Amino acid sequence: MNLMKHKIQSDFRMIRLSRQGLVLLLIAGAFPTLILVYLTFTSDDGYAGEATFQRLELKFASKLRELSMDNRALRKQVSLARTELAAFEMNVDEASPKSFNNCANTQQEVPKCEVIHIAIVCSGHKSTRDVVTLIKSVLFYRKNPLHFHFLSDTTAQVILNYLFETWRVPDVKISFYHADKVKEDIEWIHNKHYSGIYGLLKLVLPKTLPTSLEKVIVLDTDVSFATDIAELWKMFSFLNGLKVLGLVENQSDWYLGKIWKNHIPWPALGRGFNTGVILMNLRVLREMNWMEMWKKIAVKELETMQYTQLADQDIFNAVLKEHPYFVYHLPCQWNVQLSDNSKSDKCYNQLEEPKIIHWNSPKKFKVENKHVDYFRNLHLAFVEYDGNLLRRELFGCEKSEDANPTASQEEVSEDECFEFRREQSLVHRTHLFYLDYKYQPEEYDVTLVTQLSIDRLQMLELLSNRWEGPISLALYLSDAEAQQFLKYAQDSEILTKRTNIGYHIVYKDGQFYPVNYLRNVALNQSQTSHMFLSDIDFLPMPGLYNHLKSVVSRIDMEKENKALVIPAFETQRYRLEFPTTKADLLTKLDKEEIFTFRYDVWPQGHLPTNYTKWRTAKAMYTVKWERDYEPYIVVKKGIPLFDQRFVGFGWNKVSHAILLDLLGYKFVVLPDAFIIHMPHAPSLEITKFRNNALYRNCLKTLKGEYQRDLSRKYGLKALKYLSVD
Ligand SMILES: *[C@@H]1O[C@H](CO)[C@@H](O)[C@H](O)[C@H]1NC(C)=O
Ligand SMILES: *[C@@H]1O[C@H](CO)[C@@H](O)[C@H](O)[C@H]1NC(C)=O
Ligand SMILES: *[C@@H]1O[C@H](CO)[C@@H](O)[C@H](O)[C@H]1NC(C)=O
Repeated sequence: MNLMKHKIQSDFRMIRLSRQGLVLLLIAGAFPTLILVYLTFTSDDGYAGEATFQRLELKFASKLRELSMDNRALRKQVSLARTELAAFEMNVDEASPKSFNNCANTQQEVPKCEVIHIAIVCSGHKSTRDVVTLIKSVLFYRKNPLHFHFLSDTTAQVILNYLFETWRVPDVKISFYHADKVKEDIEWIHNKHYSGIYGLLKLVLPKTLPTSLEKVIVLDTDVSFATDIAELWKMFSFLNGLKVLGLVENQSDWYLGKIWKNHIPWPALGRGFNTGVILMNLRVLREMNWMEMWKKIAVKELETMQYTQLADQDIFNAVLKEHPYFVYHLPCQWNVQLSDNSKSDKCYNQLEEPKIIHWNSPKKFKVENKHVDYFRNLHLAFVEYDGNLLRRELFGCEKSEDANPTASQEEVSEDECFEFRREQSLVHRTHLFYLDYKYQPEEYDVTLVTQLSIDRLQMLELLSNRWEGPISLALYLSDAEAQQFLKYAQDSEILTKRTNIGYHIVYKDGQFYPVNYLRNVALNQSQTSHMFLSDIDFLPMPGLYNHLKSVVSRIDMEKENKALVIPAFETQRYRLEFPTTKADLLTKLDKEEIFTFRYDVWPQGHLPTNYTKWRTAKAMYTVKWERDYEPYIVVKKGIPLFDQRFVGFGWNKVSHAILLDLLGYKFVVLPDAFIIHMPHAPSLEITKFRNNALYRNCLKTLKGEYQRDLSRKYGLKALKYLSVD
């Protein structure tokens, strides 16, 4: 099993590798070699396990291969010159009829473009993380359009809505139903299950979902698919007559009442049924007045039981005990449960392959189970799977309009800055508030707004130690890195104590660090009256948060637009004794342990702050904007966004300072505040900039275009920002 784990992981690594190397290899005409290497690699079978698992794994690997091909097909459109393009297209054309036939064979009973409806109760931050893995597994195998119906709280709705808007998966629709609106139907039930009232919401789905919807697959957030969901959808054909619910038996002994001494479970048929996967015939449920029916039975049972132990599951089971003819027994492969006391081995040891895996033990991955490694790998594979690869179109179904725009070939060949421009039209999949977040802002309050990639993760604890106020943070990560980050944050004593840090994951795509999109995400999600726009490598002086709160409450930033400048310094010392006061800082400045920021490479960025004046300043002073000024500032909420055309290194803050100046913002320097830039290896972006003439030229081009855009919009006022070079 361990071998298999390695193998699946290597498969992923291989695909990542092939994505990066693809363009080069193609240009070298080595595409067939790549495929060959890849096939050789995956057919090299390193272990001798049971046939079922071998087969499964091979299927999984071949699906991955298929997907990575799709991905190549997408990327070719933008990255290849015409001749390679033509050659490559032939490959793709040859491949497609085959997969088409496959589809026809296995999907006879679900018409090709029929929409499959899925209902999920999802609330809070953790569930929204879990549900993404479930959704990835569904998207990975699906061949039909999907419509997800989320019964959610506000938190999950905000997160999922933004996620799907930026994910842009073709042929996927989402709808939300607010949990608050149906709370009263279930609030009266005492529930001891860890899911709280959300555990009971499945009971109200027939009432909540639109009456036009006749059937729906209901899923818990902790299940993963190992097959095409259409296979499950077609089992609705067995739900005829009074059979209104398709369910898999509970694979534990819970409802047999033998778990502990005097254990009295709710009534159930035999072992009872698990409600992690339900086929619901909504139309018939409504016709038989489902809401009244379950309530009556629940009231009766609650007289003796007092509360539910397993939430909705107890009530569903009590209903089925009274009306056994309501249930259609789904084969156990459709809900292989990994709970404690599980008899799930019985299920998947049969010849049939598991189709849905249910992580329904609080211990999750730690469960004792012979095949848990296989399941864990399947699950982790989806956790880390690049969600961007799931954006592919379905064959032959109506084209959705919001697919990512691709540029015409004209542009490809003629614009040398095409790669830069393309970045502007990329929509980055974004998962807001990835971890728990709870904060009640004060009337005058300041959020530190910043962004980072995985190589700066270690700054996070340092920064949170020095800034106790709210932080809005955009993180640029791959799906796998997001997992590393999650573990890092959950293991960090410092970070787990905080609930006032909003972590917003922006998933990697394209070639450049989308710095201004990241800034805008963090800025938009900040919830206080004011924001401190900083960069991750800066550490604030002690007490800066309280100092800034006090400043913004004292001075008028409403009638007059102001940007409060926090003077920036730098050190090359990894073990700097961090200055505690301004006097201390000035001493270290004189001893050359600290310098003004970028004094040697880019002095014009901060010179207008006038460090000479600052040394002795006791009061705030206003400075004039000058060319290339890019101070770190505190502003009130609602300032204009950063211009997202600037990606990677260069001009990303300068362009923003210009805009603020143009809009009449006054730059006011704070005499008693400072931040210090900590040393680190040069970023990849800056290295690219220094070594690549094209990069520098294109930056110049974009700069020119930005200035032209400003002139168009603001007329003469914008003239002074035109550069002469
Ligand atoms: C069945 O019983 C177990 C208790 O062992 C419980 O945790 C679980 O939620 C019930 N359903 C499933 C999934 O087995
Ligand atoms: C930020 O909010 C504005 C206004 O609601 C919106 O137009 C913009 O698209 C948002 N940008 C990001 C990156 O979230
Ligand atoms: C900085 O401030 C001093 C006054 O303290 C002034 O003499 C000097 O001209 C200023 N420098 C700039 C570049 O504005």
